[in-house]
Amino acid sequence: MSGIKIGFWFVLLGMLASCSNGPLRNPRHKDTSWAMIPFVKLDSVNPVLQPRQDTFTDPVTGQLVHWDSKYVFNPAAVVRHDSIYLIFRAMDSTGPHAGTSRLGIAVSVDGMHFRVYPTPVLFPDRDTMNKYEWPGGVEDPRIVQSPDSTYLLTYTAYDGKTARLCLATSKDLLHWTKQGLVFKNPAYRDLWSKSGAILAQQNGSRIVAVPIQGWYWMYWGDTNIFIARSKDLLHWEPMNDGAQIKSLMGPRTGFFDSRLVESGPYALYRDSGILFMYNSMNDSAKGDKSLAPHAYSAGQVWIDSKHPDRVLQRLDSNFIRPDKPYEINGQVDQVCFIEGLVPWNNSWHLYYGTADSKIATAVYHP
Ligand SMILES: *[C@@H]1O[C@H](CO)[C@@H](O)[C@H](O)[C@H]1NC(C)=O
Ligand SMILES: *[C@@H]1O[C@H](CO)[C@@H](O)[C@H](O)[C@H]1NC(C)=O
Ligand SMILES: *[C@@H]1O[C@H](CO)[C@@H](O)[C@H](O)[C@H]1NC(C)=O
Repeated sequence: MSGIKIGFWFVLLGMLASCSNGPLRNPRHKDTSWAMIPFVKLDSVNPVLQPRQDTFTDPVTGQLVHWDSKYVFNPAAVVRHDSIYLIFRAMDSTGPHAGTSRLGIAVSVDGMHFRVYPTPVLFPDRDTMNKYEWPGGVEDPRIVQSPDSTYLLTYTAYDGKTARLCLATSKDLLHWTKQGLVFKNPAYRDLWSKSGAILAQQNGSRIVAVPIQGWYWMYWGDTNIFIARSKDLLHWEPMNDGAQIKSLMGPRTGFFDSRLVESGPYALYRDSGILFMYNSMNDSAKGDKSLAPHAYSAGQVWIDSKHPDRVLQRLDSNFIRPDKPYEINGQVDQVCFIEGLVPWNNSWHLYYGTADSKIATAVYHP
């Protein structure tokens, strides 16, 4: 499909050039060369991570739990010392919310075969964050590095009622310091907030937060994609648009992203534009008829690099969607949920949760 589109675009360009007509644009055949397509799922190794029976003494209750025994999903990904690390959400089977979530870590030298560390690295504790993190737990990490090389993780704290975006920092990926709520201002403290993707730039195998117009930027939210800014990466404020929180974009009627949109991994800054991958849900009444009702698939959007609140272009089709048995059936059926993206071996490796139960990978070769 995209091959045909791209082919047509070249033919069209050729015709325009030969007619010396200047850069006319046919809006029905957009130039999508900014996008990373296609990503190919690595079926021979997927799913790359599945639930296990590791044990951990929960510091809140003092009880031994099988912390990664129910589901593992929604990983952040990062390259460190020539290895790929996944920081993933793991659920046990205890408590009133179908399990408590903690963040575990796994490492791989080939991006396909992972060794899981036996205990989680970020979890609800008897600390100042307990009131936000217990009993639901800590969920859905996304990672970048700050300019001084500190790892910066956004994650969701869930108290069983309200989801709140939080931050944690680390020098080595194993020892994490909780840095509190993303939105510390009391006006936003009880706002439902999730899915914080920080604007960052590739530097070799590192992904480093980059300021634009003197601010760090974060795309966040799980209904619309909203925008927040920060001077120091630790204190963030949502941007406002009159009385509303400023939105980058929302769902689109008739498309795969008709019900909701939600941040994917960090947003990738380039001089020519910002590539942002996002998750989305189809609507059973006004969605893309080729998808199952309520399917989560992912899209890509191209944002103005000088004005990170301006969308330039958005793909008409999803680039990854549930079509494997482990993506179709699980804790939540019909889900490919992307949160981890790393430059690796001259390609890009994407890591995603499948049906909120397992983890799989797909690769894009530029
Ligand atoms: C790098 O990619 C090449 C070709 O895509 C593949 O043959 C090779 O195994 C990869 N190496 C690693 C370390 O992933
Ligand atoms: C990339 O990283 C290197 C080494 O840490 C640093 O010296 C350089 O300034 C960085 N480049 C950019 C564009 O940030
Ligand atoms: C997508 O929407 C179409 C049209 O409303 C519907 O036929 C299909 O079942 C929906 N799939 C999802 C994911 O909601």
